[in-house]
Amino acid sequence: MGAPKKLFIKTYGCQMNVYDSERMAEALAGGYEPTDRADEADLILLNTCHIREKAAEKVYSEIGRLKRLKDDRPDLRIGVAGCVAQAEGALMMERAPAIDLVVGPQSYHRLPELEARARAGERALHTEFDEDKFAALPGRRRKRAPTAFLTVQEGCDKFCAFCVVPYTRGAEVSRPVARVLDEAARMVDEGVREITLLGQNVNAYHGADGAETRSLAWLIRRLAEIPGLARIRYTTSHPNDMAQDLIDAHGDEPKLMPYLHLPVQSGSDRILKRMNRKHTAAQYVGIIDRLRAARPDLLLSGDFIVGFPEETEEDFRATLDLVERVNYGQAYSFKYSARPGTPAAEREEVAADVADDRLQRLQALLARQQRAALEAMVGREAEVLIEKPGREAGQMVGKSEHLHAVHVEADAAPGTLLRVLVTGAAPHSLAGRPL
Ligand code: 5AD
Ligand code: SF4
Repeated sequence: MGAPKKLFIKTYGCQMNVYDSERMAEALAGGYEPTDRADEADLILLNTCHIREKAAEKVYSEIGRLKRLKDDRPDLRIGVAGCVAQAEGALMMERAPAIDLVVGPQSYHRLPELEARARAGERALHTEFDEDKFAALPGRRRKRAPTAFLTVQEGCDKFCAFCVVPYTRGAEVSRPVARVLDEAARMVDEGVREITLLGQNVNAYHGADGAETRSLAWLIRRLAEIPGLARIRYTTSHPNDMAQDLIDAHGDEPKLMPYLHLPVQSGSDRILKRMNRKHTAAQYVGIIDRLRAARPDLLLSGDFIVGFPEETEEDFRATLDLVERVNYGQAYSFKYSARPGTPAAEREEVAADVADDRLQRLQALLARQQRAALEAMVGREAEVLIEKPGREAGQMVGKSEHLHAVHVEADAAPGTLLRVLVTGAAPHSLAGRPL
């Protein structure tokens, strides 16, 4: 065996992809070491995202740029992974001859085999759904950052009318309890202090545990028993899977952080119905009220779509009303854009200028709420999990329980939990001094 070859992975989109990119690097660790420079790589993988607009076009133009590297380095191989690979991989291979390898999110454990085929000159493609997508990947003990993502569930059966996930990531599948616990224990052994459990529909988790099936709340309580693990989070959740045992866990499991990303998409019952969300605005607000009864300082985050087909001004105002009622500490808002193959793509769209205007109004309101949430922290105590040096000398930065970035004047190593007094708020972060 010669020196290890170099692997460059470019990651687009969600946290699931960030996690998947790490797993791809692990799967290829037998022959490759990571690099952050495309121009010295022997294998370049684009881990793509299909949620945002013009996803495929962006990949084609990136491939166009990378193709030039191949002129100097004939041994360079280029692969496309992620949701765009899943949705359009075969077509992409036809259209872009520079692509050597296409692999869907269910098949990353097959990367060594696909890479070997691509290396031998074949164009290798694997986007089948026919196997255990959580099949064990080889792992090596390594030093890790204090925070990590851990996928516990993948796919979605909800079929919201605008969303490609049920098509690209497939049906909802949960990893068995033992695998999750093993992986978590290994992460903690490698220095991780905070784990964020990931899934497209994470609170629908129903993992096998012998003959039993366990809920996300049950899993969280078991993970909380790992001594070196200090914090647990999870994302992304659907309101209809917000079970009472999970709400209870927010009330009495101290390692479960007081932060929840619970998308609602719209505040209008008419639009929610057209979106196939299967819940009303009042039901969503009722869930929030129960969560806050269990954990009064819970910080809420959400996703919103404005300009969904047929959305009227009145529908949009209902969204603004819901936002006022819930009061988000953090949120993502998007202008609707049609995804081919989804039911909503067939419907008549709202005029672009109207949708732009609504997006601006919603984002102004959400920004006000986010600022207020940061300012409300000033003068209060927070616990910060230190992650890395800050921008200025003598400063470290980490996250509070509420996932706010906090800059601290302290000489504390990554992984340290520091109690601080919050002394100031900036537009997107806090400042604190150790107590
Ligand atoms: N148009 C706009 N936003 C979308 N999202 C998903 N699909 C679309 C679409 N077609 C948003 C939703 C989802 C988030 C991850 O992306 O708000 O919760
Ligand atoms: Fe997409 Fe989330 Fe709806 Fe599933 S629940 S279809 S992932 S928006």
